[in-house]
Amino acid sequence: MAPPDRTTAHPTDSAPSSGIPRKVWFHTFGCQMNVYDTGKMRAQLSADGYVDAEGPDDADLILLNTCSIREKAVQKMESALGGYRRLKRDGRPLVIGVAGCVAQQEGQTLLDRHADLDLVFGPDGVPHVRSLVARAREGARVLDTEFLDLDTYPFVPDVDPGPQGVGAFVTIQKGCDNKCTFCIVPTTRGAEASRPSDQILDEVRALVARGVSEITLIGQNVNSYGLKTPGEITFARLLHAVAAVPGVRRIRYTTSHPRDMGDDVVEAYRALPALTSHLHLPVQSGSSRVLRRMKRFYTRERYLEVVAALRAARPDLVLTTDIIVGFPGETDDDFDATMQMVEEADFVGAFSFKYSPRPGTPALRLADAVPDAVASARLDRLQQRLRERSLAWSRRHEGQVVEVLVEGPSRHDEAVVCGRTSGNLMVNFPGDTRLVGQLVAVRVTRGFTNSARGERVD
Ligand code: 5AD
Ligand code: SF4
Repeated sequence: MAPPDRTTAHPTDSAPSSGIPRKVWFHTFGCQMNVYDTGKMRAQLSADGYVDAEGPDDADLILLNTCSIREKAVQKMESALGGYRRLKRDGRPLVIGVAGCVAQQEGQTLLDRHADLDLVFGPDGVPHVRSLVARAREGARVLDTEFLDLDTYPFVPDVDPGPQGVGAFVTIQKGCDNKCTFCIVPTTRGAEASRPSDQILDEVRALVARGVSEITLIGQNVNSYGLKTPGEITFARLLHAVAAVPGVRRIRYTTSHPRDMGDDVVEAYRALPALTSHLHLPVQSGSSRVLRRMKRFYTRERYLEVVAALRAARPDLVLTTDIIVGFPGETDDDFDATMQMVEEADFVGAFSFKYSPRPGTPALRLADAVPDAVASARLDRLQQRLRERSLAWSRRHEGQVVEVLVEGPSRHDEAVVCGRTSGNLMVNFPGDTRLVGQLVAVRVTRGFTNSARGERVD
């Protein structure tokens, strides 16, 4: 077996396509950023003749785009990788690569552990995926976990050539400069760099030309967009600029940090009807003491102030959040503060997680771990309450007429279509697929925990 090839020159990135049809199977884990990166890899590899395989059995390249945010995500990817590696045993020429955050975190260790793994590269390898794959195809075992220069970061312009829905992600920054003590992202995705706004707007226009009308701007901490780049516009200005692109009907964004939610962004909720009423604003904990230990740089009072300002600007704001339970040192009182926060901030949904110690993160040094059984019991209690709140919110819509942006046929019934409200309620109603991409008035007849049913009103 050839030794890992560590060169970082990328000679074939812009070489013309060889024209040979090849098949790639992507398996994507984790967040929207990974979904987006996979699209960018698909776009670049299509220049080398790659098309999507129908399944892993039919592929000659398998790329796992991995997530390391919690231990469970890493375990999931290991078991999938085991299955893919078995496909190599029948001797067919198959290149297997691990990309994304686990690849960045484990690097050489992954190659050492799996002798038949061909390619390992982190998130900064995405812009160079063509040359990385080409070298692996030639028989080298390729490792690329170098971080690229932030000033010249090559954000990939090509749009995913795969089928395009009504909504699409557009990345506005890479990496994260925060150091939340539980979080591995700054290690795996490196420092923050903002994508030039003209490139972002070009991508938005290209997506609109392909039928997209809902744009979700993504980054690890979107509120800090542009602040480090001389001459770049702010996140609030970017929201205005995207809203001004003809054909953009809705704008969402994720993820935002409560500390950096400026008055100008709050103001955008008054000025821009296209900015949706749903906001995902991770709180992580309702206890100021825990927030301090997480290095979040806001208190529970400050978080609630930000929420109040946002609701003043947009009275029908729908708020969801991320919550970690069982962070080291979390007492019963701290957890009760989180439960109260759920009520006070009026969260209608949340991604909630048990704290998972991650390699190299500062929280590892905190000695006072919460026993697993205690953390599990807290998580159950929290999730139970969140389910009740989500159902109550959905049921509050019963009898109301809402505006739904139709996304496609329902998974369960061809005569039914589904779409979301500005507040992000998923509504299913009888209708045909000619409605896809249109804003339709729908009366909600029944609310469920994660969706609602309705009927069209003319
Ligand atoms: N353990 C549990 N949850 C975590 N998150 C990030 N790191 C960890 C961790 N070590 C959660 C945070 C973040 C979301 C994307 O994942 O809530 O907002
Ligand atoms: Fe992680 Fe905090 Fe950065 Fe979010 S803001 S990616 S939680 S370090």
